[in-house]
Amino acid sequence: MNRYLITSAIPYINGIKHLGNLVGSQLPADLFARYQRARGAEVMFICATDEHGTPAELAATKAGKPVAEYCADMWQVQKDLSDRFRLSFDHFGRSSSKRNHALTQHLAGKLADNGLIEEVVEKQVYSKADGRFLPDRYIEGTCPNCGYENARGDQCEECTKQLDPTDLINPRSAVSGSTDLEVRETRHLYLRQSALRDKLNAWIDSKNDWPVLTTSIAKKWLNDGDGLRDRGITRDLDWGVPVRRGDQDWPGFESKVFYVWFDAPIEYIAATAEWADSNGLSENDWERWWRTEKGAENVRYVQFMGKDNVPFHTLSFPATIMGSGEDWKLVDYIKSFNYLNYDGGQFSTSQGRGVFMDQALDILPSDYWRWWLLSHAPENSDSEFTWENFQQSVNKDLADVLGNFASRVTKFCRAKFGEVVPEGGTYGTDEERLIADLTTRIRAYEAHMDAIDIRKAAGELRAIWVAGNEYLQSAAPWAVFKEDPAKAAAIIRLSLNLIHLYAILSAPFIPDASATLLAAMGSEKEEWPAHVRPALETLAPGQTFTVPDVLFAKISDEDRESWQSRFSGIRD
Ligand code: 2FM
Ligand code: ZN
Repeated sequence: MNRYLITSAIPYINGIKHLGNLVGSQLPADLFARYQRARGAEVMFICATDEHGTPAELAATKAGKPVAEYCADMWQVQKDLSDRFRLSFDHFGRSSSKRNHALTQHLAGKLADNGLIEEVVEKQVYSKADGRFLPDRYIEGTCPNCGYENARGDQCEECTKQLDPTDLINPRSAVSGSTDLEVRETRHLYLRQSALRDKLNAWIDSKNDWPVLTTSIAKKWLNDGDGLRDRGITRDLDWGVPVRRGDQDWPGFESKVFYVWFDAPIEYIAATAEWADSNGLSENDWERWWRTEKGAENVRYVQFMGKDNVPFHTLSFPATIMGSGEDWKLVDYIKSFNYLNYDGGQFSTSQGRGVFMDQALDILPSDYWRWWLLSHAPENSDSEFTWENFQQSVNKDLADVLGNFASRVTKFCRAKFGEVVPEGGTYGTDEERLIADLTTRIRAYEAHMDAIDIRKAAGELRAIWVAGNEYLQSAAPWAVFKEDPAKAAAIIRLSLNLIHLYAILSAPFIPDASATLLAAMGSEKEEWPAHVRPALETLAPGQTFTVPDVLFAKISDEDRESWQSRFSGIRD
């Protein structure tokens, strides 16, 4: 059986994510996980919250809570929202878990055993006004690479270059704005990733099927000379994974923690162990996904993330895995995304700009958002959310095409034959043409889904819905019924089966609508259609059905305008 390990970049704990975050990792990962399950694969789909680092500490202070309590609360908030968006994680973990502590310390120990850790006395920015060392991303200044003026000390958002805070020109504290910064000495552990350059290079070279966006970013940083610079993996903070060498103390590091970007990707593994723990399973049950000697060599591991995460997943995390010398599974395929913009600007968490996950669900159910976001995923370039475009897609694709088809067919049948699949009649050329057309289109849809070409897959699915409408229009059972009721019965029987087929094919995109349609068709059969003809005979004559409630309500101009103005400002 095919086995897929699927991970989504783990969202930071501080705050509710916006739709741009959602479409950049968790949602497309969910699409792929649902699709692979529907195709019969064994899937392990993992996500978690990324809980360490100063953002969490500062957000907790702002919320007036101890950081551990703040994280526990926000984990629940994020978990509830992901449930409501129907993100079908097998486990939604926490990077602050015991498992992640232990595994992070274990891997650091292995790296040290293998000579890949070095102790370095570093000069670090200390803010007198803030009374603390400032972590990388809380120092802002001008990027030495591209000149962007609001670059953060860990990475420039503009050119994606990984930075060290002392690289910044004209640095200032992002906490207080103070420029009263001084550089103090502090001892840190460095990961000697430069020692792995050849290995990493060869590994990335072997990935010739990766999306251009992923490999271009990876190659840029590999060949940049600077991209693989040895980096500090510890920090002077209280909140995080305490620095230990396996289960031993690490002398001189008793009051330090690992850097959030060191422990975050390790949480992909740890969360899978958390999954086993919470289901009462054994070590072997999770290790078979991650340890090649325990069966993971037969697993295809696919990661989903925004483009700003690519350097960490193509260089730093693989360096940790390779450097451990252990049999941990390396990623097979990295699907990365550009940015989704919001109505002429950028989505921004810090500025509260755009639509956030909770707000989106306040106004419409998740399927509406899932469909728009996935069918406009920023795959080949940045894409933009506008309310007009959203209204148009929902009204056309979901209401006029899919929803209307289901409604017309079921209502016509109820009126003429009752709420039961009618018998009689045979197929003619229209039906044969439809079957041929759907066969081609479904195979194309599968190919796009297998390749994780999300927009193309959405386009093909839409075309599959349109084909049904066109068939119905041309077969015109309402006209045929008067002359030849048996023929009308055959048309309607096929159309009811089409609703069932659409429910199955559409489920990865719009799982709730799909469940509604399946329930209305009174069917528990959810087999993927290997062949169209038998799939269109799933609902046999005599089987009862019900007319579903309005599947998708149209968005009125009034609604659109009111939402547009409601979300034009800034969230507090
Ligand atoms: O960019 C982010 O939202 C990070 N929290 C992603 C971490 S992904 C991984 F490394 F765990
Ligand atoms: Zn830059």
